Amino acid sequence: MVKICCIGAGYVGGPTMAIIALKCPSIEVAVVDISVSRISAWNSDQLPIYEPGLDEVVKQCRGKNLFFSTDVEKHVYEADIVFVSVNTPTKTRGLGAGKAADLTYWESAARMIADVSKSDKIVVEKSTVPVKTAEAIEKILTHNSKGIKYQILSNPEFLAEGTAIQDLLKPDRVLIGGRETSAGSKAVQTLKEVYAHWVPEDRILTTNLWSAELSKLAANAFLAQRISSVNAMSALCEATGADVSQVSFAVGKDSRIGPKFLNASVGFGGSCFQKDILNLVYICECNGLPEVAEYWKQVIKINDYQKSRFVNRIVSSMFNTVANKKIAILGFAFKKDTGDTRETPAIDVCKGLIGDKAQLSIYDPQVTEDQIERDLSMNKFDWDHPVHLQPASPSTTGGKKVQVVWDAYEAAKDAHGICILTEWDEFRKLDFQKIYESMQKPAFIFDGRSIIDVNKLRKIGFIVYSIGKPL
Ligand code: NAD
Ligand code: UGA
Repeated sequence: MVKICCIGAGYVGGPTMAIIALKCPSIEVAVVDISVSRISAWNSDQLPIYEPGLDEVVKQCRGKNLFFSTDVEKHVYEADIVFVSVNTPTKTRGLGAGKAADLTYWESAARMIADVSKSDKIVVEKSTVPVKTAEAIEKILTHNSKGIKYQILSNPEFLAEGTAIQDLLKPDRVLIGGRETSAGSKAVQTLKEVYAHWVPEDRILTTNLWSAELSKLAANAFLAQRISSVNAMSALCEATGADVSQVSFAVGKDSRIGPKFLNASVGFGGSCFQKDILNLVYICECNGLPEVAEYWKQVIKINDYQKSRFVNRIVSSMFNTVANKKIAILGFAFKKDTGDTRETPAIDVCKGLIGDKAQLSIYDPQVTEDQIERDLSMNKFDWDHPVHLQPASPSTTGGKKVQVVWDAYEAAKDAHGICILTEWDEFRKLDFQKIYESMQKPAFIFDGRSIIDVNKLRKIGFIVYSIGKPL
């Protein structure tokens, strides 16, 4: 029986390994982590991440060929293939701070693999890493020269949160990069055989190591660039009376452009787009390519602009002050169908409003009060070092400036304004007449996700602002 061990039981490690276990009954999969609370949650009925369809897959395989454990060394020692899926956040200190990827967690995982291994292993980079990381990892793995042979593969993950299970079951492609040697090709083939249990062969792409590493950064940069492009257009739409949904639709009809990923929003969030682009920018700078670095930097700049533009719109519409006004925040997660708040635009919007002394009442169906307090009290880039090991410090959320409630109607009661920051389906179905009646007048609504019917809400009496729509 082939044994797989995955170091890092997070948003990527957990779901990817659960699907491998589901599709490959002949493979034993162990997912290990240094976080005791995360592993206990994976072994309980309340999984540590919310992802549609994940519970069923885990229930089906856990205890059969899927195991979650904190005994990292034992499982690495026993494994034939070791995936490394630890966090690779943006560095907060030292050389490259605010841009470069922090490979501390990766390096400590690699050192541990080198220390405990007694047999040859395939080590798979599942985390998103800077191009050429495999070279450094190879040096670390072989530093204590025990004569063990390692093959490093790059197998970046392309799943998106909220649709992870579907993305894993039917991936657009699986990418495997390896050394162009016979041992390298053999390792690529071994990993290919794992995916071939359910992924059609023409969707399993093989490349050299550096192409695979760079393709992951490039894919995220291209995706984020589309959002910044449409968000830049949304500002122009508001200034001219064009409607960004109509523009996106018309542009997306060109088969060379395509319709996906053209929804204007309050800005993209999530743990990866910003960090991966900053990482790409840093790599370009280190390779003497300042013009290329500057090009990609603009994607982040427009995203920051979009978030602050939204806050400015709220404050200026509400007579230039939100001081002591109650504002309901509907949605805090960075997108629907996830409880993940990493780099969510809601953090910047809420901080901006708190900065203007607003009183916030926040509701999100999947995000806990603790998480919201922690997010609003943390410094930029601190959140993933790693989040679950950091204590909450509620005092810095601005005293009683923030209240977290468990119902959209409760959040909106007596509020002067509502901001929609996540496109949860339930927000589309709200009784806005009832909400309007419970609010202070004039009642404002600011839709950062284009989910409301602007005309209908205006008829009710709301003053409506929706990203990229005529004012
Ligand atoms: P995560 O923070 O959810 O999980 C990482 C886990 O690794 C944490 O639980 C942490 O405790 C553990 N860990 C860190 N160092 C460890 C060590 N030395 N030994 C054992 N465990 C250790 O992160 P994630 O969202 O799963 O992302 C992991 C990687 O995958 C990142 O590089 C990210 O860029 C990439 N990625 C993420 C997504 C996504 O949707 N979240 C998608 C594609 C790629
Ligand atoms: C993204 C990529 O889509 C994945 O392919 C990649 O594997 C992953 O990053 C990663 O490397 O972590 P994810 O961040 O989970 O996945 O979610 P997306 O669906 O890409 O959304 C990212 C952000 O962009 C969200 O805040 C979303 O609301 C926003 N978005 C997305 C828009 O504002 N407009 C759109 O049209 C699409």
